[in-house]
Amino acid sequence: MTDSYDLVVIGSGPGGYIAAIRAAQLGMKVACVEKNERLGGTCLNVGCIPSKALLQSSEKFEEANHALAAHGVQVSGVALDLATMLARKDKVVSDITKGVEFLFRKNKITWVKGTGKIAAAGKVTATAADGTSQTIETKNILIATGSDVMPLPGVEVDEKQIVSSTGALEIPKVPKHLVVIGGGYIGLELGSVWRRLGAEVTVVEFLDRITPGLDLEVGKALNRALAKQGMQFKLSTKVTAAKKTKTSVTLTLEPAAGGDKEELKADVVLLSIGRRPYTDELGLAEAGVELDERKRVKVDGHFQTNVPGIYAIGDVIAGAMLAHKAEEEGVVFAEILAGQKPHLNYDAIPAVVYTWPEVASVGKTEEEVKAAGIEYKVGKFPFTANGRAKANGDTEGFVKFIADAKTDRVLGCHIIGPDAGTMIAEVALAMEYGASSEDIGRTCHAHPTLNEAVKEAALATSGLPLNI
Ligand code: FAD
Ligand code: NAI
Repeated sequence: MTDSYDLVVIGSGPGGYIAAIRAAQLGMKVACVEKNERLGGTCLNVGCIPSKALLQSSEKFEEANHALAAHGVQVSGVALDLATMLARKDKVVSDITKGVEFLFRKNKITWVKGTGKIAAAGKVTATAADGTSQTIETKNILIATGSDVMPLPGVEVDEKQIVSSTGALEIPKVPKHLVVIGGGYIGLELGSVWRRLGAEVTVVEFLDRITPGLDLEVGKALNRALAKQGMQFKLSTKVTAAKKTKTSVTLTLEPAAGGDKEELKADVVLLSIGRRPYTDELGLAEAGVELDERKRVKVDGHFQTNVPGIYAIGDVIAGAMLAHKAEEEGVVFAEILAGQKPHLNYDAIPAVVYTWPEVASVGKTEEEVKAAGIEYKVGKFPFTANGRAKANGDTEGFVKFIADAKTDRVLGCHIIGPDAGTMIAEVALAMEYGASSEDIGRTCHAHPTLNEAVKEAALATSGLPLNI
């Protein structure tokens, strides 16, 4: 190819494809090299979207089985058609990834199919599946190659009996016993899917708590809620070996601090102990691009690596491994490249665990505020006192605000409850504008809505909740 580009993006996940679109909107000539057969990266193909499709379907199955009778809706003969459920998920993925193809065409972005390698600053080679290779000239290169499953020595993923999140999205038969290694986002979301569909689920977590990054009080409430649903937890426990037979996997467990071994038998094991940046085959060492101590691509505040003209965003750099963080970085990167001066506020990036109840948070946890020596106050409001939650029959959980004791500025908000992921958006917006808890408490919220619990928790931060 003799064309020369303003920007070549390597990787078409939420970071890469959004950066490509914004750069094209700003007048740049853009190509995106993607080795997968479909655009959209981890998130659209084997991450956010298929996992949410299965969470939604399995929630409906559980509702039909257990929740509708309380509403006076009698159903009988509820049966699982797993093949249809999985096919629906695949269709959602196929539709949404085609949507990205459409957006590429609309914005005149060239999709170069193949594995991208940085030959030098200003040169990317793309090698197609059939081995043919081309060199693309470009003024700028964006590395948006994302992340991959973190391996655990002794527990080799085969995507059949020992699966990563990718295999866990297509288990053809509900396992009798699913053992999940790692009580984080993936383990709890996909563990919930298979528990709802009838599997016994045991989560083995190295630490003495699940979801380590979350506010401790909220993490504990989530642990209680999931345990009540039947998920079993082995905290402070590590897996040291896995032995497979044709039909089962026997894991060897040990207390995290050392001690007596025990065995745990599973039909399927899900390995979900985190993800690591993906930089294989990229030619970073040859190009002289520096990595940090955790093998993430090192960038400055403008996403520039140590090599001029080579940039990186998303899961492959430091920070939360979240699709919306990658997207925001993509937008900000493209705007900086176009000479604009955008800003990304990393303190206002929400995080959501899509279990039921959902957990959503933005800003600092109580532990972080305490550790920073900030004087703070807390306001809480339970969904049991929210009219809409009562009407819906979904009252588990609460909203928790953390605000500066002197200025009342919101420092963090943590919600466990129905649709927490949707509710957190108003707090992220408020934090972007530097709101105080009083600002949120004085904002009129429609009645009856779940978001009134957000308003009430904000009021509670100053000791003046109305409905409790
Ligand atoms: P990726 O999406 O990983 O995309 C990288 C792309 O680069 C891939 O398509 C890959 O094929 C391509 N690539 C890599 N190397 C090369 C190369 N050399 N040449 C060409 N192409 C290359 N986040 C959320 O915010 N919400 C969620 O609900 C959520 N759910 C998730 C569920 C699961 C099961 C998983 C695994 C992740 C989930 N995530 C979620 C995380 C989210 O998927 C990632 O944070 C996000 O995809 C990161 O985007 P990215 O653009 O940095 O990289
Ligand atoms: P995670 O980092 O969320 O959780 C990993 C868990 O495994 C932690 O609790 C950790 O303490 C534990 N762990 C680590 N080593 C262990 C070991 N040897 N034995 C037992 N436990 C061990 O990672 P996860 O769940 O794999 O997800 C990866 C990333 O993908 C997430 O951090 C998140 O960024 C992203 N993701 C986001 C989702 C969302 O936004 N809803 C959903 C799914 C994934």
